[in-house]
Order: sequence, then C-alpha cells, then structure tokens
Amino acid sequence: MNCSIIILAAGKGSRMRSFMPKVLHVLAHRSLLEHVWAAAERLKPQHTCIVYGHGGEQVRQRLCGQPVEWVEQREQLGTGHAVAQAIPTLADSGKVLILYGDVPLIRTTTLEAMVENCSESAMSLLTIELDDPHGYGRIVRNNEQKVISIVEHKDANNEQLAIHEINTGIMCVPAQKLSTWLSNLSNENAQGEYYLTDIIAMAVSDKIAINTVSASNSHEVEGVNDRIQLAHLERYYQAMQAEKLMQQGVTLRDPARVDVRGEITCGQDVIIDINVIIEGKVEIGDNVQIGPNVILKDCSIGAGSIIEANCVIEQSIVGEECSIGPFARLRPGAKLANKAKAGNFVEIKNAEIGEGSKVNHLSYIGDTTMGEGVNIGAGTITCNYDGANKHRTIIGDNAFIGSNTAMVAPLEVGAGATIGAGSTLTNDVETGALTLTRSKQKTIKGWKRPTKKK
Ligand code: UD1
Ligand code: CA
Repeated sequence: MNCSIIILAAGKGSRMRSFMPKVLHVLAHRSLLEHVWAAAERLKPQHTCIVYGHGGEQVRQRLCGQPVEWVEQREQLGTGHAVAQAIPTLADSGKVLILYGDVPLIRTTTLEAMVENCSESAMSLLTIELDDPHGYGRIVRNNEQKVISIVEHKDANNEQLAIHEINTGIMCVPAQKLSTWLSNLSNENAQGEYYLTDIIAMAVSDKIAINTVSASNSHEVEGVNDRIQLAHLERYYQAMQAEKLMQQGVTLRDPARVDVRGEITCGQDVIIDINVIIEGKVEIGDNVQIGPNVILKDCSIGAGSIIEANCVIEQSIVGEECSIGPFARLRPGAKLANKAKAGNFVEIKNAEIGEGSKVNHLSYIGDTTMGEGVNIGAGTITCNYDGANKHRTIIGDNAFIGSNTAMVAPLEVGAGATIGAGSTLTNDVETGALTLTRSKQKTIKGWKRPTKKK
C-alpha cells in the first residue's frame, strides 16, 4: 500500500522486570516486534522505520537483514517525541501509519482500513469501546459525534473519565501535516511528556477530518506491559490457532492444550492429542494421528501415519502410513518412506529409511541409507562417528540385522543379507548370506568364579 510505517519500540518495559527489552519478549516463538513487523510487512509499505531506545543493538539484531530504517530515541520524552525522531526518514507527502512494538496481535485487515481512511485531508484513528477504560486516552466527540480531541487518563476530568471509547494509539496521518503538528507539541501536561495524541486537536483546528476505525476486538489492540498480559495474549493467540485448526477439519482432544508456535497445515480428519507443540513449518496429511506430548518442528507427516506419545520430530520427512514411537526421536535429515516404522526409544538422524523398513526398538541409526523391507533388530547401532569424522552405512533391501548389532561405518550391507545377533560389523557384508562375527557358544565345565584376594 501507498504508505510509510513507524513502529514505536523505545519503551523500556520496566514492568516486565527483565534484562531484555520488552519488544523482544516472545509470543508463540516470535518476538513481539516481529509480530508487529510481519503485520506491517503484509501491507507492502514503501518504507518502515523503527524507533528504538533500550537495548538497541539487541533489538536491531532481531530484524537484521530486513529493509527497516532504525532511528534511536535516546530519551523517552513521550509518544509525540518518539514519532518526531522518525520524521527525517519519511517522504514529505503520503500517509504515515503509526504502530507499537508491544501491540503484537494487530491485524493486517485493520491496518488496511486505517490506511484507506487516511488521505491528504483526513487522518484515521483506531479506537475501541472498553468496559474498563482505566488508564487509556479517551476519545472526546462533539454533539455531532465528530472527534475533537484525545484526553489522557491522567489529564481527564470526571466527565471525560466516563467515556468508554479509548485511543488504541494506532493512527494514520498525512505526512505533510504530521511534521508541522509534531513541532508544535508541548509537554505541559500531567506527565510532562510530548503526547502524540495532542495532534488530534491540531487536526481539528486545521480542518483535517478524523475518521475512526473500530478494532475488531480488544486483543488485537492490547499492549504488553508485564508478563501476565503477555501470557494472556499468548493464550488468546493459541485459542485462535486451535479454532483455525478445528475449522480445517482437525480434531483437537483439548483445544486448550495444543501450542502452535509456527505455521501448520493439516489435511482432513487429523487427530491431535493433548500437549502437542508445533514449531516452525509443519505439514500434516489426511488421517494422521498425533499422540500426546509430541513436539513437531519443521517437518512433514504423510497421510495415514501415526505418531505415538512422546515423540520429538525435527527437520524430518515422514511418509504415508508410517508408525512412529512411542518415545522416538527423529533428528534433522531423517527421511522415512511410506509404511516405515521407528519404534520405542529409537533415534534416527540424517538417514533414509526405505519403504516398509522397521527400526522397532532401542536403536540409533545415523548417516544411513536403508533400502526397502529391512528389519533392524532391537539395540542395533550404526557407529557413524570415529571421533573425528562421520561415515555412512548403507543397508540393502530386505536385509535382516540381528539384535544388538554394531555396524562400524563406512560399511555396506548387501541386499537380503542376514546378520546374526550381537555382531560387530567392520567390513562390507555379502548379499544374501548369513554373516556372524561372534564366537561360537561353548561351555567350560567345572569353571570356578574368581574369589576375593585375602
Ligand atoms: C498511549 C496513548 C493513549 C492510549 C495508549 C494505548 C499517548 C500520549 N497516549 O498511552 O492515548 O490510550 O497509548 O495503549 O500517546 N514509546 C516510545 N517512546 C516514548 C514513549 C513511548 O517509544 O518516548 C512507546 C512505548 O514503548 C509504547 C508506546 O510508545 O510501546 C506507548 O507508550 P506509553 O508511554 O505506554 O503510552 P500510554 O501512556 O500507555
Ligand atoms: Ca501503554
């Protein structure tokens, strides 16, 4: 859209009681500032400027590489003073949308309405009616219901305190007027601050129309001042994510016990049990079942697969009709073809598991290429690391690896090979044959156990 955006993020946020700047606190795995930034970016503005103060370097790093202009506000002298710092970075004409780094759930559709309601001869103001308007600036209207000013709570008289329509702080202003108005602000008020809100009365006297836009609900305009408010907004956000999933045809065993801290796309008839955490980008196919206490991070789960309780799956691809867990860990680079199985206490890393292959119990499979129809016995380990370098294990189709086998990589096991239980393989294994590395079982009769020395 044809506008510039200023995000105010200079406040210290003392009530967070944190070493970290407030806007870097996290909601659904993303900083408050990044939420605002993302909502702003979706408008495709011509220019974005962030006014920072406390913890400047840390704040800048969080959005490092993004096309943002950074302006420091050394002393926090009020919202009007903060916006004034950004003025030199703006074009002389056009619209300026003012946002807040600690109001994370603002919706892009609301912002679009704000920009549309602003022009050379009109500014827009985002307001909302609150049952309890305590602490907020009040919207004062005349007999014709036209906005004539905003009065801060601390400066308001009893009649004004009774107003329930409040200023959310978000506004869109014609740039030409903004700089003149800001230079005329004074700090003669109850808080000794340069109030941005004082430009409203200036707009009225300059015959600039003031269009109000109503926020869709209170959460989208709620600011975070302490950790209680942050937790409250997190719960609201999660409730919205859960609702979205259910609308897409997902059964949530308890919508209050799933956390989406990234992006998830789900097919139909997916069932998600309690305490599941979604991080990064996760894709889930039709008819997938996810058990309780599962963490899914940057992965995809093919249709019809079952993820049993207590699995951790990260940067992995699970095919269709696979069975994972309980208690399995798929680490980055695990790639399971259709109908593969990774059972109890199995760890798989950087390995391809072929169609229908099974790693059912207590195994570590790392840096491995495994064919189809392979059966890996309990306790089998690929020894992929020699202390300095990683090596690959290749296992052919239909191989049968006996329990408790150690495969010392680099190593290739031929297709259809059978490995006796308890083998330690150090060389390639022939196709189709039985390979044993253990010694034959023997019995020594009359053998005496060692005794303690006197
Ligand atoms: C402000 C509005 C009030 C509105 C309320 C909504 C003014 C004067 N008042 O009040 O009408 O109802 O927001 O929450 O604007 N900030 C800076 N630099 C500063 C001062 C503030 O960057 O010098 C940032 C803060 O980090 C914060 C935001 O601006 O994110 C709002 O500042 P704050 O002092 O909390 O304003 P309020 O008193 O809540
Ligand atoms: Ca505030």
